[in-house]
Amino acid sequence: MPSSVANEGFKFPTRRQISDSSAGLPASRQLSIGSPINSPQPPADVVDEAQLQSEQSENIILQKSSSSSTTLATSSGQKCRRNGWQVKGSKLSLNTHNRIRNIVESLKIKPNPAKPMIPLSIGDPTTFGNLKAADETMKAVLHSLESGKYNGYAHTQGHEASRIAVAKYSAHQRPDGEIEPNDIILCSGCSSALEYCILALADRGQNVLIPRPGFCLYNTLAEGLDIEVRHYDLLPEQQWRADLVQLESLIDENTAALLINNPSNPCGSVYDEKHLRQLIAICERHYIPIIADEIYEHFVFPGSRHVAVSSLTREVPVLSCGGLTKRFLVPGWRMGWIIVHDRQQRLGDALHGLKNMCGRILGSNTIIQGALPDILTKTPQSYFDGVIDVLYANAKLAYNMLKQVRGLNPVMPNGAMYMMIGVLIQHFPKFKDDVHFVQELVNEQSVFCLPGSCFELSGYVRIVLTVPGPMIEEACTRLSEFCERHYKKEDDTNDRRIIEHGLLLDDDEVTPY
Ligand SMILES: Cc1ncc(COP(=O)(O)O)c(C=O)c1O
Repeated sequence: MPSSVANEGFKFPTRRQISDSSAGLPASRQLSIGSPINSPQPPADVVDEAQLQSEQSENIILQKSSSSSTTLATSSGQKCRRNGWQVKGSKLSLNTHNRIRNIVESLKIKPNPAKPMIPLSIGDPTTFGNLKAADETMKAVLHSLESGKYNGYAHTQGHEASRIAVAKYSAHQRPDGEIEPNDIILCSGCSSALEYCILALADRGQNVLIPRPGFCLYNTLAEGLDIEVRHYDLLPEQQWRADLVQLESLIDENTAALLINNPSNPCGSVYDEKHLRQLIAICERHYIPIIADEIYEHFVFPGSRHVAVSSLTREVPVLSCGGLTKRFLVPGWRMGWIIVHDRQQRLGDALHGLKNMCGRILGSNTIIQGALPDILTKTPQSYFDGVIDVLYANAKLAYNMLKQVRGLNPVMPNGAMYMMIGVLIQHFPKFKDDVHFVQELVNEQSVFCLPGSCFELSGYVRIVLTVPGPMIEEACTRLSEFCERHYKKEDDTNDRRIIEHGLLLDDDEVTPY
């Protein structure tokens, strides 16, 4: 078997092996408690992982007793008998929560039957049928499938030709050096890339700095493993730049990584070089690696430019997470990647750990891997430009309509596919917060936005810009009708021009085109 072909899922045994389960297997695959199968000693970090899993079950070993009832023996030799089923969810699974799902499920929603539903909440750009994958992208997958060459396992980091293709496609991330195929790890979507990075860098008890507002998956991934998330604030009046002083105050000796999401979900902000350099300087001062969620790279509106954070530093290690999902409009294909930028070899055994993580699911979808070289080179620029045109037109339309609405403060995005809209909740006394606002908006107008609370920032709602133009226009008209109906004026201030943090700006300044 060539060395590039993945193993068959071999795992070093934990002390929680079920002796029964090895009965009947060939001698070479049988598991014997306490003595690892005819295999080399696992690297230390693999043992740590195994120990982590076994901690929860207190090293319980299941044994079959002579009376054929099941008894339990702890590693200290004590025996106890089970009287019935005692299956329990693991701590990890029970501590894993998706904030969007929890909040959305808590809403008491009954859309107005007189108005067709407009879901401005769904982040899947293919939902409405107006944005489709390019023909070239689709054909690449057909060829991959028809070749019959991509039905087997690949190297757990991905087929080499696919990694070379990603390295070339991502050359802008390291303009003064070459990205090697070995720097690339193909993953099952950008979510799995993020999971690998967080888990490779942080242990339980450590903390990761993540943006507020921010994509809720970061919390979901970290919290289940008792990795603390510390939120650094993004400032709407500064086009959602990070509050650098507050960010730096969060750092301590247990800070394992700074996560930067640029362009941003939910803000639609795009950081310029100056701001990225400020973030890098903080990481350099405190020796903290960066996880860069760049799934929306290149997704920027006219007048803005995407700068990869890795392109600005040789000193700070950057794990850049990306994928096909958004730019190629194929979220269901589950193709993401990590690009390791570790110019001074500072990641140490974290890099080894990161590569170990690939062994957890034995690699990503190989049909799509086979198509990657064609997808990344043959999808024409005109296709990407067309998608940006739709999003930008929708952003301008929504912004220009909603900035006229009393009680709302839209923040014009510079990229990605979302817009955050400030809701001056004090002017809507009927609603206690953004979640309540959204619930009643659905019930009266059948327009569904996500409350800012889903992204840890109340007082906002997020809309998606991927819907057809007439639909977004209709949604903004209904939103405006809703706000007019419930708005209560408190004083004479022209609140339309006030951003939530009390800053008075001219309309021109609020419009960062
Ligand atoms: C900021 C951000 N990161 C990561 C992801 C996950 O991407 P994927 O679907 O490739 O796992 C999303 C999806 O919406 C996202 O918005």
